[in-house]
Amino acid sequence: MRNINQFDLANPIIKIQHLRKVFGTKEVLKDVNMIFPQGSTTVILGLSGSGKSTIIKHIVGLMKATSGEIWVDGVNVSACDEQELRAVRKNIGFLFQDGAMFDSMNIFDNVAFPLREHFKELTEEEIEKRVMKMLSLTGLDAQRVARLFPNELSGGMRKRAGLARAIIMEPKIILYDEPTSGLDPITSDLITQLILDLQEKLGVTSILITHDMKESFKAADYLAFLFEGEIIEWADNYAFKNTSNPYVRQLLNGSGEGPIQFNG
Ligand SMILES: Nc1ncnc2c1ncn2[C@@H]1O[C@H](COP(=O)(O)OP(=O)(O)O)[C@@H](O)[C@H]1O
Ligand SMILES: [Mg+2]
Repeated sequence: MRNINQFDLANPIIKIQHLRKVFGTKEVLKDVNMIFPQGSTTVILGLSGSGKSTIIKHIVGLMKATSGEIWVDGVNVSACDEQELRAVRKNIGFLFQDGAMFDSMNIFDNVAFPLREHFKELTEEEIEKRVMKMLSLTGLDAQRVARLFPNELSGGMRKRAGLARAIIMEPKIILYDEPTSGLDPITSDLITQLILDLQEKLGVTSILITHDMKESFKAADYLAFLFEGEIIEWADNYAFKNTSNPYVRQLLNGSGEGPIQFNG
């Protein structure tokens, strides 16, 4: 965990202001306000379908806000055209919820993909060096795994390869959408450890969406709880764990009893 000072808090690398997102007639995000201090890890918690993935898709400009502003490293993403978005995305690594790999490409080409997209001037030799380095950083046997195809990898290995692809651009910001879902607890813990190592080695700002409370408290500098379209709690690790907010307490207890009503 990192020491965040007042300067970092006043100058966050990402700032979301009054983000509202409506799909058809459904208002998924009502008024989301958040800051992400540079070099910190923030965990976003929330019920399934509450809009967590929607928030991070706005940060990379994969979705357009109905209204509101999303500032990333001094740029208002919500007002960017495609070309400006490409420049923003150069600095962001994104591990998708399903780890999405191109099935028809081997792991080497999957991991190399963002490099080839963004740095057309790189030689094959330079690309190979970077790909092998990133695969090794994620704890994979790079020489062996590079030539395999996604369907030849276990779930844990696929997540690692997805991580290698997310960090290949050496981004300032990494977004992890449920990186440990579907993994056993031991592999989950290894992935969380890896996320922490990457943060230390690369000094990145991370946003992590997860349902795993144990991993959350292990990784987070800050935690946020998205509920009914708003961030109803945002606090540092210690304060979040000890909050008296009954909604958060219900979440932490994983309990059906409390202010959060389920009608499903
Ligand atoms: N492209 C889309 N079109 C229509 N509805 C969407 C779209 N993406 C997400 N939604 C809806 O927005 C809500 C929030 O989705 P999502 O952000 O994926 O939730 P979470 O990641 O918290 O589980 C869901 O009800 C989902 O069906
Ligand atoms: Mg999601």
